[in-house]
Formats: sequence, structure tokens, C-alpha cells
Amino acid sequence: MIQTKSTSFALVTGASQGLGRYIAIELAERQVNLLLAALPNDGLQDTAYVCQQMGVEVYTFETDLTEKANVNRLAEWANENFDVRILVNNAGFGGSRRMTEVPLDYLDSMIRLNANAVALLTHQFLPNLLRQQEAFILNVSSIAAFSPVGFKTVYPATKKFVQHFSEGLREELWGTGVSVSVVYPGPMITNEDIRQRSERQGWLVKQSILPPERVAKIAVSGLFQKKMSITPGWPNRLYRLLSVLPSQWRTSLATRVVRREIG
Ligand SMILES: NC(=O)c1ccc[n+]([C@@H]2O[C@H](COP(=O)([O-])OP(=O)(O)OC[C@H]3O[C@@H](n4cnc5c(N)ncnc54)[C@H](OP(=O)(O)O)[C@@H]3O)[C@@H](O)[C@H]2O)c1
Repeated sequence: MIQTKSTSFALVTGASQGLGRYIAIELAERQVNLLLAALPNDGLQDTAYVCQQMGVEVYTFETDLTEKANVNRLAEWANENFDVRILVNNAGFGGSRRMTEVPLDYLDSMIRLNANAVALLTHQFLPNLLRQQEAFILNVSSIAAFSPVGFKTVYPATKKFVQHFSEGLREELWGTGVSVSVVYPGPMITNEDIRQRSERQGWLVKQSILPPERVAKIAVSGLFQKKMSITPGWPNRLYRLLSVLPSQWRTSLATRVVRREIG
């Protein structure tokens, strides 16, 4: 048993870089103690160091969340040692590739991380969250959840999974102390690959880009306000309105943008 000074913690997955790192920093600024998880690399320790400088307790757990056994290990470690009041399911990835060219393992990892890990980790943490007087779950989806998109195919489907899973769970947990929110970010330049992809997508996509630190601020604030749905930035809220169009038009429009990226 780890001897902690603090009473409750937030677990953030994918906290070594990108949006997860800024969500962790945003929580640390609000004096929330942290459990940070990501693949083994230097980024996680760096996020931990930055957050510790803000005076909070931070523990890290390096693991590959595409494996069910690792999801279990992370949950066991956290549940045995900490009261978890906030769960942020952020780790995830996407990309634009032709279905005929994409490796099988790439698709498998995407589904396991973006969808499986979110549901399984939430399941394993629920007893801990329900023990707290008030608790919060924040699941990271994407505006890609609002339309199927050719050349992305699996990614929007995993993010739709996150939406439906979260909305169903929110209803199921109504009347308990656990609130469930979903954030739908639009494009954020969190790594070089995304920067290059966004440039090839043209004007419309560039208008909707927000810095991850800004998205993290909006997401954390929405989480504490117990909002069901958080969509940062007006261009992204506009994109959501596409869902009123007939599915075929919407899919065709969204695919046209990605086709330009694919070349
Ligand atoms: N960037 C965008 O434009 C955008 C838009 C909409 C939604 N989103 C969503 O926002 C979330 C964060 O995206 P991001 O752009 O910030 O990503 P990112 O910069 O690539 O960071 C992803 C994080 O997830 C971790 N991770 C990756 N694979 C993992 C695995 N198998 N097991 C455990 N951790 C793993 C990474 O750890 P390592 O550093 O160790 O690899 C990293 O901490 C994702 O769910 C993504 O789908 C992103």
C-alpha cells in the first residue's frame, strides 16, 4: 500500500503528451492530485514533474492500454492504493489511411485503445468512483464522432462508441454521485503527424484548429460543471450541425476533406 498524504486523485490516461498532458496540468493547477498513465517513455515523467511543481502528489504508471491484462493491472494498482475521484479516458489515436493499405495491427490497436480500453477501464474504476461523495468521468471523443468519414472509417466509429458508451452510462449513473462527460475536440496540433495532415486538409480544417492547452481548459471546466457534452470552438460546434444533413451528404462532404489529405 502506497502511503499517500492526499485523500483523492484523478487518473489521466495518455498523459505523456498532447491533450492528456494539458488536462493533467489543468487539474494540477486546480490542486487535484494525479495518477498518470501512458506508454513507457520520458514524456510521462516530464508531465509528472511539471505537475509536482504545482504542489500536487503525482504517481505514474507506464503501460500499453491496448492489452486487457494491462488495463486490469492499472486498475488494480490504482484501486488498491488510491481513492479515485476523477477518471479521464484520453489515450487514443487516429489517422487517415486507405482501408486496403492499412495494416491489421494498426486497426486492432486503434479499436482496443479508443474503444475497449475506455469501457474496460471505466468498468474497473466504477466501484472506486461510486465510493466517493462526488466523482467525475471525462471521456475524450472527437468531432469525428458526428459523421462517418471515408479513409478514416474505423476512427470515427471508435469515437461514436465513446459517445454512446458515455451517454448511456451517464443515464445509468443518474442519481449517484458520479457524473459522466464527453469532450469532442476538433483538430489540435499535438504531434508532427497531425500537423502535416491538417495542412493538407485545407482552409476549413485550419479554421477549427485549437491549441490542446485551450481544449484542456474547456474540457476540465466542463467536467466540473457536469456537462454531458463539451465541444470546444465554434467551427467544431458548426461541424456538429452536419448531423442534421442526410447521412450520405454528410459522409460525402467529410470524406472530400480527407481525400485531399490522402492525395
Ligand atoms: N489531436 C487531435 O487533433 C484530436 C482531435 C480529436 C480528438 N482527439 C483525441 O484526443 C485524445 C488525445 O489525442 P492527442 O492528439 O493528444 O494524442 P497524442 O499527442 O498522440 O498523445 C496520445 C497519448 O496517448 C498515449 N498512448 C498512445 N497509445 C497508448 C497505449 N497503447 N497505451 C497507453 N497509452 C497510449 C500516448 O503515450 P506515449 O506518449 O507514451 O505514446 C500519449 O500520452 C485521443 O483520444 C484522440 O483521439 C485528438
